[in-house]
Amino acid sequence: MSKPIYVLSGPNLNLLGVREPEIYGKDTLEDVRLLCEARASALGRTIVFRQSNHEGQLIDWIQEAREHGSAMVINPAGYGHTSVAILDALKAVDLPIVECHLSNPAARESFRRHTYVSLAATGVVSGFGAASYALAVEAAAGLSA
Ligand code: DQA
Repeated sequence: MSKPIYVLSGPNLNLLGVREPEIYGKDTLEDVRLLCEARASALGRTIVFRQSNHEGQLIDWIQEAREHGSAMVINPAGYGHTSVAILDALKAVDLPIVECHLSNPAARESFRRHTYVSLAATGVVSGFGAASYALAVEAAAGLSA
């Protein structure tokens, strides 16, 4: 049995479905969790699915994934654009890392065009709404055993 794929979500994603639905869609974070679980299970894999509004909590989970995960999907949300500390934590992870965004940040405000997380990510999936997560889980599963 392989180790789980960690699927981590950053700040404000607990409000998915009600927060700017015209940008992020109407699916809730629970819908996203179910989608990720279904995709992982179809691929014979398991996930650990967590969300936090707190940078330090996300860093603790990234460090946990180093030891207990096989790969990571991370939607860093706003922290992607600001957090050197999250980048540093990810750089210490010797696992495939798939950066994931519901929207396509490259097509939005200029400050969203750069994410620190991309410097540590194996690849990025963005712009497909909740399906970005399922595609990211699939990519993470394909990159790990
Ligand atoms: C986001 C894009 C970020 O720019 C934004 O700060 C978010 C969500 C996305 O999933 O599209 O909170 O990561």
